[in-house]
Amino acid sequence: MAFDLDAAIRKIPDFPKPGILFYDITSILANPEAFSYCINSMVETYKDTDINAIAAIESRGFIFAAPLAERLSLPLILVRKKGKLPGETLSKTFDLEYGQDTIEIHKADVGPGQTFLIVDDLVATGGTLRAAIDLLTEAGASVKEIFAPIGLPFLNYSEKLGDVPVRTLIEYDSE
Ligand code: PRP
Ligand code: MG
Repeated sequence: MAFDLDAAIRKIPDFPKPGILFYDITSILANPEAFSYCINSMVETYKDTDINAIAAIESRGFIFAAPLAERLSLPLILVRKKGKLPGETLSKTFDLEYGQDTIEIHKADVGPGQTFLIVDDLVATGGTLRAAIDLLTEAGASVKEIFAPIGLPFLNYSEKLGDVPVRTLIEYDSE
């Protein structure tokens, strides 16, 4: 029988603001069986593909990307928020619901010949992942697929990410 991931995800109503149901991955991390299920599922999915690098989105994406990269013996590239990476960077600014954000990668670590899997914890509007795809692509790499354990398709991420397949372990509809 498949693992009941839904039961392992804490749902918090009205966070971070009224009307939003927050899907909390800290309850996955606090449950070793649930976390192993996620990492093992990712390993099984990607072990025989031609992906040769993993990009991890700060910060919650790091948690799922790092064990996968280690298990598959693949390079792990951190996509960080502005001002955190010490070396020469490439950056991309994107729109949020209110205002903007900027993500960066180390220029020396990304280039032609790399076929990336991008890992985050959750896909909502897809804005963060869109910026990450554009950043890696502009650096000369290609992006083969996106993985996040949780997807919220009712926020229409496929509109922004139509050119790259998105794989999830569980998806939620609007309440
Ligand atoms: C959340 C979540 C995803 C992103 C999804 O991260 O972890 O990275 O938002 O939203 P989107 O699909 O609309 O772009 P957040 O920016 O809250 O930061 P964190 O991971 O550092 O907690
Ligand atoms: Mg995040």
